[in-house]
Amino acid sequence: MKISLTGIKPTATPHLGNYLGAIRPALKLSESYETLYFIADYHALTTVRDAGEMRGHIYDVAATWLACGLDPESTLLYRQSDIIEVFELSWILSCLLATGQLERGHSYKDALAKGGSPNAGVFNYPVLMAADILLYGAHVVPVGKDQKQHLELARDVAQRFNHIFANDEELLTLPEPLIGEAPLVPGLDGEKMSKSRGNSIPLFATAKKLRKMVMSIKTGSEALEEPKDPDSSTVYQLCKQLTPSIADEMATKLRAGGYGWGHAKQEFFEALEAELGPKREVYESLRGDTAKLDAILADGAARARARAQATMTEVRKAIGIS
Ligand code: TRP
Repeated sequence: MKISLTGIKPTATPHLGNYLGAIRPALKLSESYETLYFIADYHALTTVRDAGEMRGHIYDVAATWLACGLDPESTLLYRQSDIIEVFELSWILSCLLATGQLERGHSYKDALAKGGSPNAGVFNYPVLMAADILLYGAHVVPVGKDQKQHLELARDVAQRFNHIFANDEELLTLPEPLIGEAPLVPGLDGEKMSKSRGNSIPLFATAKKLRKMVMSIKTGSEALEEPKDPDSSTVYQLCKQLTPSIADEMATKLRAGGYGWGHAKQEFFEALEAELGPKREVYESLRGDTAKLDAILADGAARARARAQATMTEVRKAIGIS
């Protein structure tokens, strides 16, 4: 079976956009791939400056993915930082990369363009990410399109390694990005849902809060009896991504008239609650049991690390350090 691997930065508590755009599709892949999903805590360190926040978000992310259905028996769920081999491979890869290639990195360039003086972690970020991927022989990496350049760099450096140290044999597997086809998930104001924009719907808000947020979604102001255009509406778009069958009916009713935006929102809320309500309960109980989360993460790390060590044995031999 081919391997699917992705990293999740613990920099925020996941919202509905993350669920629809990343979590649900990645979990779906576990039906057809061997899956390794890890918490990229050392990538988060390029920005996070508070230990409590780091620790909290690591648990938030772990509990979220488990509550959403990640089965820790079949999917390896682990903390990046538990696999110390990743730093060793990072160094080896960095010796094969030209600084110019890292200077062309989008996030590094953006940070410079904003007039900041980015830390060296931001500069080296793609190297650590390449190591995350190459350590486990991942074939596909489900990511957003903003990560495409990082995947190209990972492929490049793997190829260079294989060329220089392995007679062009595929000692390091060349990964393919798996860019989500899903349309953008709109937020409460109709713009792309993002935490920084303040328009996001938290995944595990209480039912009461969730309903209140859904009711605040921007809509048109047509009268109840008027026919309405579903395609230009955020409620419909969100509902379509969540539960297409319910959204299809909603579209028919909106086009027919006699069905108001309030009705549409109520139906969307009910669909959301049906999907998220049971997961919220699991989330809350897991999030309150950090000892259990630690045990799951430690088990995932032990299994992931065995693979990482096997790769490093080959890599060290290939470069003449063993
Ligand atoms: N850079 C990714 C992001 O910002 C997170 C990440 C770190 C990652 N290492 C990875 C994703 C390896 C895929 C594979 O979302």
